[in-house]
Amino acid sequence: MSDYAPQPADKFTFGLWTVGWPANDPFGVGTRPPLDPVESVHRLAELGAYGVTFHDDDLLATEPDRDVAIERFRKALAETGLKVPMATTNLFTHPVFKDGGLTSNDRDVRRYALRKVRRNLDLAAELGAETYVVWGGREGAESDAAKDVRAALARYKEGLDLLADYVVEKGYSLRFALEPKPNEPRGDILLPTIGHALGFISQLARPELFGLNPEVGHEQMAGLNFVHGISQALWQGKLFHIDLNGQHGPKYDQDLIFGHGDVKSAFFLVDLLENGGYEGPRHFDYKPMRTEDPADVWVSAAANMRTYLILKEKAAKFRSDPEVAEALAASRVPELSTPTLAPGESFDDLLNDDFDLDAAAARGYHFTRLNQLALEHLFGVR
Ligand code: GCO
Ligand code: MN
Ligand code: MN
Repeated sequence: MSDYAPQPADKFTFGLWTVGWPANDPFGVGTRPPLDPVESVHRLAELGAYGVTFHDDDLLATEPDRDVAIERFRKALAETGLKVPMATTNLFTHPVFKDGGLTSNDRDVRRYALRKVRRNLDLAAELGAETYVVWGGREGAESDAAKDVRAALARYKEGLDLLADYVVEKGYSLRFALEPKPNEPRGDILLPTIGHALGFISQLARPELFGLNPEVGHEQMAGLNFVHGISQALWQGKLFHIDLNGQHGPKYDQDLIFGHGDVKSAFFLVDLLENGGYEGPRHFDYKPMRTEDPADVWVSAAANMRTYLILKEKAAKFRSDPEVAEALAASRVPELSTPTLAPGESFDDLLNDDFDLDAAAARGYHFTRLNQLALEHLFGVR
């Protein structure tokens, strides 16, 4: 039995803005003081994390001078060995972005937004990041009269094409990961789901440089099945990064600790990530609850990693349980991986099948037993 102690090899990473969130919300001011990114780096390293990620502006949380802030951050990374696998740009906090960054109706704002991303791309590359996340929190609208969505998508494409050209020209080994979200802070956000974002990528000039950074809670806010979304992203080779957290169905974005929302979905997600070929960081994008004090923040950070490791162990036991293997076979789950036509068979050969329609219609799939077995592994009674 493992003690669930996170190791750097587990590749757990945290956004500086997660543990550093001072817990301000639309109805109240912050309940915690600003946190020095240097402290976050040291604390996360002590807890067993592999890396940290950041928005350009996160580095300035307690030190307004950018050069000084970067130097202090760099030193903390060197002292702890923490990596920076991903970085991103804040195109949502400053009032100038109230109608968006890359898709603002105001052309001057779009040009400023591109300069802001460009500057942080240089820093991301310098710090060794491989992934650059693009979350368009303000790219959207509250009124269908206020945004020409086709023009906005054209401008989104224009901006991302320019950024991709820049990365290639500079020889950076960065790839972009678009992060879908249906709403909040805008009434409606562009690229609201994994499916929308995958469709959009096919329209870009360099689609190979673009993939996704899906967040658990964002798909669940839209009532969608996150495990299905991640499966499709993996199948299309587009799962570049992932934001793990928790959410209780369609309501405001809760950004709970991983597993503290829909735990059954979290179980199947870990099973998929561990067995589905995803090798990127396990990145937590959560918010320590507003009720928590500065010490609780680190309890919450540790809880994300511990929950993941517990679910990983449970998923491994589920997969190695002979009764589960037998139930999967009885439910014909492995049979779905067999191509519908045998090698060498033609479409016409289908006409030769000796098929008993009534017998096939009468057969049950026995999914109830399988689902119960999964639940019992999750409950820890097997
Ligand atoms: C959210 C978003 C943000 C972004 C992050 C990257 O919870 O609405 O996930 O946390 O991921 O800001 O830009
Ligand atoms: Mn979120
Ligand atoms: Mn996120």
